[in-house]
Amino acid sequence: MRAIAIINQKGGVGKTTTAVNLSAALADLGQQVCLLDLDPQAHSTLHLGVAPDDGEGTIYHVLIGDTRLSEVRRQVTDNLAVIPSHLDLAAAEVELAGEVGREVILRDALADDPQDYDYLLIDCPPSLGLLTLNALAAVDEVYLPLQPHFLALHGLSKLLGTIELVGRRINHGLQLSGVILCMFESGTRLANEVSRDVDEFFAQDSNGDCPWANTRTFHTRIRRNIRLAEAPSFGESIMDYAPHSNGAHDYRLLAKEVMAQTSAIVGTTTTSRTRQFQTTR
Ligand SMILES: Nc1ncnc2c1ncn2[C@@H]1O[C@H](COP(=O)(O)OP(=O)(O)OP(=O)(O)O)[C@@H](O)[C@H]1O
Ligand SMILES: [Mg+2]
Repeated sequence: MRAIAIINQKGGVGKTTTAVNLSAALADLGQQVCLLDLDPQAHSTLHLGVAPDDGEGTIYHVLIGDTRLSEVRRQVTDNLAVIPSHLDLAAAEVELAGEVGREVILRDALADDPQDYDYLLIDCPPSLGLLTLNALAAVDEVYLPLQPHFLALHGLSKLLGTIELVGRRINHGLQLSGVILCMFESGTRLANEVSRDVDEFFAQDSNGDCPWANTRTFHTRIRRNIRLAEAPSFGESIMDYAPHSNGAHDYRLLAKEVMAQTSAIVGTTTTSRTRQFQTTR
């Protein structure tokens, strides 16, 4: 299983849109996918048409130790399952503040879960709090969605510092393995400049052994597409809502790139922390 957290502490950059539609695209390509919604806003949950407060339990109940992942997981399509979130999850940060090992609760819950998937994607909240730390402790890889505007890289050092610290102290082998440019407006000078800045930024460290030494920007740019913004209100992924739209096309291409990346990674289980990434820029 490849476990990937989609993280950017900046709000509104395309984390949820990417988590949902990349999951759906991978599922459409025959992969078994589980999307874990770790954001109290529960946007991924709602986007996939699952009601967060239908009384069946959410990731909140798993984190506070009331239940197991298998009890709250919902099957959305044959290949796609979701572990829903709820506004209650906002309280978990406070409730778990005094708990020993609070950063690894999710990791342990996943380790106890007998269900295996090809991909586990985690949609994270726009913060670097306890929920995001739990995601970082539980995954092998991080994808960073960026919206190309002039502050796109602002705050990136804080995020990289957090990834580095979690990689050193809790989760050896954690890698920032991809940058996804979202809401891309290809004709604009700004979009192209930001995309070049991102490449240069990560190229500086490409020879080190830090978690972003092998980071690559995906070739696929997710273009701004109104269908992607409409789909959540219908409770459908873009693959169901508008399968012929540019949005569906872009996420399908991205899914293929993600799958091609898999073959470049040696040893892809959550328990194998010794893997080497052989992706090239
Ligand atoms: N490629 C796109 N084209 C058009 N609209 C988009 C695109 N990607 C995202 N959006 C819209 O932009 C808004 C923010 O996107 P999204 O919710 O995915 O960001 P986020 O990073 O998850 O936000 P938050 O930090 O609040 O969780 C949403 O209304 C979404 O529908
Ligand atoms: Mg979101």
